[in-house]
Amino acid sequence: MKVEDIRKVGVIGAGTMGNGIAHVFAQFGYSVKLVDKSQGQLSKALETIKTNLQRQAKKGVISEGDIDPILQRISTSTDLEFLADVDFVVEAVFEDENVKREVLTKVSRIVRPEVIITSNTSSISITRLANYTGKPELFAGMHFFNPVPVMKLVEVVRGFSTSDETANTVIELAKKLDKVPVEVKDYPGFVSNRILMPMINEAIWALYEGIADKEAIDTVMKLGMNHPMGPLQLADFIGLDVCLHILLVLYNDLRDPKYRPCPLLVKMVEAGKLGRKTGEGFYKYQ
Ligand code: NAI
Repeated sequence: MKVEDIRKVGVIGAGTMGNGIAHVFAQFGYSVKLVDKSQGQLSKALETIKTNLQRQAKKGVISEGDIDPILQRISTSTDLEFLADVDFVVEAVFEDENVKREVLTKVSRIVRPEVIITSNTSSISITRLANYTGKPELFAGMHFFNPVPVMKLVEVVRGFSTSDETANTVIELAKKLDKVPVEVKDYPGFVSNRILMPMINEAIWALYEGIADKEAIDTVMKLGMNHPMGPLQLADFIGLDVCLHILLVLYNDLRDPKYRPCPLLVKMVEAGKLGRKTGEGFYKYQ
């Protein structure tokens, strides 16, 4: 399918990423059908989108008058059948291959046969997920970054069988959302996490080995390398469980000991100190 033929977009999963993805598609004129298994998550997502649109209006990114029309372009359901008439799909459910398998298998039977299906997964093989749709040539990764309305990057991940036409459509679609698409091949961690997670892991090793304290490590990377956030602060923001999970994907799938997660990271996850979301990680949060 060509990008000009895409008007109605299905987003599956209304969590952190799904609400942001629905937000940007609606902001740029697409009609959005947002599906989640939980009605509570759908209601929460609409509230979050409204709050984020109001913030954008205050900053002058959009005007106050844009808010209602954008919200009106988003409709919701707890039933995947709701996606029968969409022209494009982004899946953003839990990072669990069994959950994704079930959702992708079902949705591929619901949408029209020419519809491209994409996944926002940050660590699962696009090539494997593609098989669950039965049409791997029409499947790709569309990896947005958090917070979606703010972050410019979209990694467009080509699975082993993704067709040129599919990849091009996803790239052109990302541009329509005022994003900067970068095409990458389907290898563990793609490019973003292949580089980011070893850096975060190394910062944790530096802390573990007592080379410097946490503030010093973060200050070195902020002031010396011009990173907006230090790696330990960023790890807290992402979630230490998510960092550990992605490091284990790199370690297991690439079979290279250089990705071995630092024991301190493992211990902190075991202790339930997952970062901002639990109130404590490397730093404490209110
Ligand atoms: P989340 O946990 O905030 O949201 C997941 C949503 O999926 C929940 O609302 C849940 O109710 C829904 N869901 C679960 N099973 C479902 C099903 N069978 N049918 C319909 N809805 C279902 O997760 P988050 O953080 O939004 O992540 C979603 C995806 O995006 C994951 O694949 C993750 O790896 C990826 N991702 C996450 C980033 C982040 O910073 N959080 C960044 C980039 C990608």
